[in-house]
Amino acid sequence: MGAVDQTTTGGHLERYDEALARDPISAFGLVREWLRSDWRALFAELRERRPIFVTPAFTVVTRFADVTEVLSRETVFSVRAFGPRLDAALGGPFMLGRDATPMNWRDKGLMQVMLDPRDVAGVRELAGRLADERLDIAWPSGGVEAVHGLFRPVALGVSATYFGFPGPDAQTLSRWTRAIVTDGFANFLGDPKIQAASVRAGSEMIAYLRERLAERRAALRAGRRLPDDVFTRLAATALPAEIGVDDERILINMAGLPLGFVESAPGAMVEAVEQLLLRPEVLAQAIEAAGDPDPARFDRHVWEALRFNPFFKLLPRLCERDYVLAAGTPRATMIPAGTLVLAAPASAMFDADVVAEPEEFRLDRPGHHQLFFGFGQHACLGVHPARAVICEAVRRLLLRPGVRLLPPPEGRVVRAGGIFPDRFVLGLGAEGQEQ
Ligand code: HEM
Repeated sequence: MGAVDQTTTGGHLERYDEALARDPISAFGLVREWLRSDWRALFAELRERRPIFVTPAFTVVTRFADVTEVLSRETVFSVRAFGPRLDAALGGPFMLGRDATPMNWRDKGLMQVMLDPRDVAGVRELAGRLADERLDIAWPSGGVEAVHGLFRPVALGVSATYFGFPGPDAQTLSRWTRAIVTDGFANFLGDPKIQAASVRAGSEMIAYLRERLAERRAALRAGRRLPDDVFTRLAATALPAEIGVDDERILINMAGLPLGFVESAPGAMVEAVEQLLLRPEVLAQAIEAAGDPDPARFDRHVWEALRFNPFFKLLPRLCERDYVLAAGTPRATMIPAGTLVLAAPASAMFDADVVAEPEEFRLDRPGHHQLFFGFGQHACLGVHPARAVICEAVRRLLLRPGVRLLPPPEGRVVRAGGIFPDRFVLGLGAEGQEQ
């Protein structure tokens, strides 16, 4: 299967070096813009010519071996930068803002028990049902706004039924997650208004969860039956006091579930669907595989499509001490303490040293070449349910006849803050029926 768009390399580094010599701020602006709009060509050139790309503001790491080295050395490359924003919103520490601490170890272990991988088949079924409900509503209009009309409601519905966290209503939960995630991961200039909105949303969310926890505990004491969701499991778990899983830990970890999910899952679904629809031959194969009783055949199409536009392109880390990255190779580079390091899984997944024929759309990629869910200590807690939900929502969409991209501007993906997909209108059914 051929690639749709061949990456063109060349030119970025000359323009960057020239801008840096003349006006360093404009050089920073160029890189930010390329990372947003021209990342495949930029990364291809960097992998080839400057695989560890040092700028005065940050260092970008592009080769597979180096990206995984950064992400697996949490005491050198820490997530300290995430800590303050997430702590401020949630009123206490959350695992993604702490490295190599007993708290991170304990909370991740606890939550891995709660998100039992044996739940996956049921979660997949749930996501499929939620997607079909939305598609049935959209169908008569001949189109669907795939973000708020399909993928976000699926994620919010999974949060309601599987996590046991519906929010006062889906709209409020959606607003809370957007406010907190925007500040935590997209407020690069530290806008105080965005920070304040996040703190407000976080305290509303925790107060809501505190009341629900009290209700669940009361129901459990009274012997009433509760749904078997993640919240009930947490409320019903009694660990020795010395372990330190108090109610604050339960509330913060419950809050972390939709925070990890409601932006990233629809983000990945939008990117995967767009990449599939851009490749008619692949799309035809994917639709054929969507009818297969073995979901794995279909799912491979989704993951390979996502490789061509992963939702998480860069994972930021703070370098805690002077460190030689890629030691013993020609690209060995000294990273000074205090450097902001951007590990680029989106680039690593195109590294020809590891990924065969990276520009080709191939369905035989091994799972360990995929870095959509991170790598190392902070690898995604929700990977099992998330994989199932993403693939099933996309599968149900593609099982509808006539799914297609619409010409711009209508068909373009609109993003909030340049990151979170907010609008993606697709055609459904016979052409010319859109209302
Ligand atoms: C059930 C849904 C999900 C939950 C509950 C969840 C939760 C989490 C949590 C708590 C972490 C931090 C783990 C730690 O610090 O040890 C994490 C990491 C991560 N998640 Fe998820 N997540 C979900 C879905 C997703 C999806 C859909 C994606 C992307 C397609 C994703 C991508 C990632 C990545 C890339 C990381 C690593 C972040 C880093 O290393 O900086 N997650 N997730």
